Amino acid sequence: MSERRLFRRRALWVAGNWKMNGTRAETQTFFDALKTSFPKSDLPAALHTAIFVSPLSIDRALTVRGDLPVEIGLQNVHFETKGAFTGEISGPMALEAGIKLALVGHSERRQYFGETDATAKRRTESLLAQGFTVIHCIGETKTERLENQTETVLARQIDDGLPTEYSDRLIIAYEPVWAIGTGLTATPEQAEEAHAFIRTRLATRYNRDAAEKLPILYGGSVTPDVFPALLALPNVDGGLVGGASLKAESFRQLIQQGLEVTRSP
Ligand code: PGA
Repeated sequence: MSERRLFRRRALWVAGNWKMNGTRAETQTFFDALKTSFPKSDLPAALHTAIFVSPLSIDRALTVRGDLPVEIGLQNVHFETKGAFTGEISGPMALEAGIKLALVGHSERRQYFGETDATAKRRTESLLAQGFTVIHCIGETKTERLENQTETVLARQIDDGLPTEYSDRLIIAYEPVWAIGTGLTATPEQAEEAHAFIRTRLATRYNRDAAEKLPILYGGSVTPDVFPALLALPNVDGGLVGGASLKAESFRQLIQQGLEVTRSP
């Protein structure tokens, strides 16, 4: 572990994806509770914390967050900046509301709302060009893993789905679909194997230096029970957390665990 810390070159992220949860009242309760328990000192610049909320809860989140260093992000933003796209939200709308952070390509967007590598790529490229920081999600399904297709799928999602140009505002989240919301976290061995593969592929897609700089978060049933073991892995740079980010106490614990890693000598 100490070897890993000596060589830590990348920022660490603790990001919560609330999905279709979090009314304004619930958002208020969450941040009120987080404020009372949050680590007192400022977070180091190398530790980012974020919550991806519903568009309708943005205003409330930004207000009740106060001076907590928790970024607020959106779970899906359209790649066009305006036009006839009923039900969608544009980058300029998000920016006007004070949001500069977005998720792209979450497996639930791919599974239920027709997101493909091609649309995810358009989305990430457009949002990066508009100044957003983007967490771009990839990951294989259970069937793909059982059929030994994990690396083939990840390679395709990287080659066809990531922007053509490297950006220092791009972050990758590896989220094996079979681990999302199932309680089946990937083992540290499975996570490290996939993350190492992703980093190697990123070196081919961009270059070695870019691949070393890109944070790769793990997502899929992350809880405070399993997070420290994941954070100890050389190629895991934080977590994208669903269920365990909905409660202020478990989200605080995850941040505390991230803080311990960034503070270690
Ligand atoms: P989970 O969700 O932590 O509830 O498994 C993770 C995600 O979908 O980002």
